[in-house]
Amino acid sequence: MLKIEDLTVEVNGKTLLHDINLEVKKGYTNVLFGPNGAGKTALMRTIMGFSEYKVVKGQILFNEEKINDMPVDERASRGLGIMMQRPPDMSGIKLKDLIRVASKGQKNPEKLSEKLSMKPFLDRDINVGFSGGEIKRSELLQLAAQDPSFYLLDEPESGVDLVSIEQVGMTIKSLLEEGVNCPGKSCERGKSALIITHTGRILNYLKADRGYILCNGTIMCSGNPLKMLEEIKNKGYEECIKCRLMM
Ligand SMILES: Nc1ncnc2c1ncn2[C@@H]1O[C@H](COP(=O)(O)OP(=O)(O)OP(=O)(O)O)[C@@H](O)[C@H]1O
Ligand SMILES: [Mg+2]
Repeated sequence: MLKIEDLTVEVNGKTLLHDINLEVKKGYTNVLFGPNGAGKTALMRTIMGFSEYKVVKGQILFNEEKINDMPVDERASRGLGIMMQRPPDMSGIKLKDLIRVASKGQKNPEKLSEKLSMKPFLDRDINVGFSGGEIKRSELLQLAAQDPSFYLLDEPESGVDLVSIEQVGMTIKSLLEEGVNCPGKSCERGKSALIITHTGRILNYLKADRGYILCNGTIMCSGNPLKMLEEIKNKGYEECIKCRLMM
């Protein structure tokens, strides 16, 4: 569904990402690991089409269509949605109004916000004065309203307390499972996702299919996400970098 080939990206003339190859098939949930400053957020923002990230080589294919030069709104209308690591405050715009616009008037903000306990926030300006965990739930609510077919989730668990993490994790699980098709025994999830996580806590609630490790602006390795997480916890990112150097 999402295919990234030999992607190199610059910001203000500086190369942040280079020679990235990554794929997320329809119905898959893939995970992106990597140390601080590796370029994970830059990759997600490039996929979403934020204008400061310039693709200088390679391509981004979404449903087999090249989207390199497409503006953010067109990517969103094709089914891409993002939960940002640090979304901006939006003074003067109430959360419930954005929910209405994002759902094209199709969803009731009060009803939608129940699962995430966000009702008391609907009349507030978006993110203004929200706590770290409230911002994550607000982002998720906006995504639930937009109903994308592909979720880019940048650290959905960061800043979320130990109790709310279950609420966030279960909400993401149910969003990804919308439109699940189970002919016979083979189950195909309706939605796809690329999730950035440092701690892997979110993976207690979701089935992850493939993991990638991004270091120094490029993908170093890919494999079983839970095994990768164990390796990172035990050995850090060094082994992965060494393995790449030997390739
Ligand atoms: N607009 C920009 N101008 C200059 N440098 C930038 C810009 N955006 C990102 N960078 C730099 O690119 C590098 C990668 O940043 P990015 O936010 O993608 O890291 P990350 O892997 O998401 O890290 P973290 O785990 O801390 O969130 C950082 O060194 C960052 O300072
Ligand atoms: Mg980041």
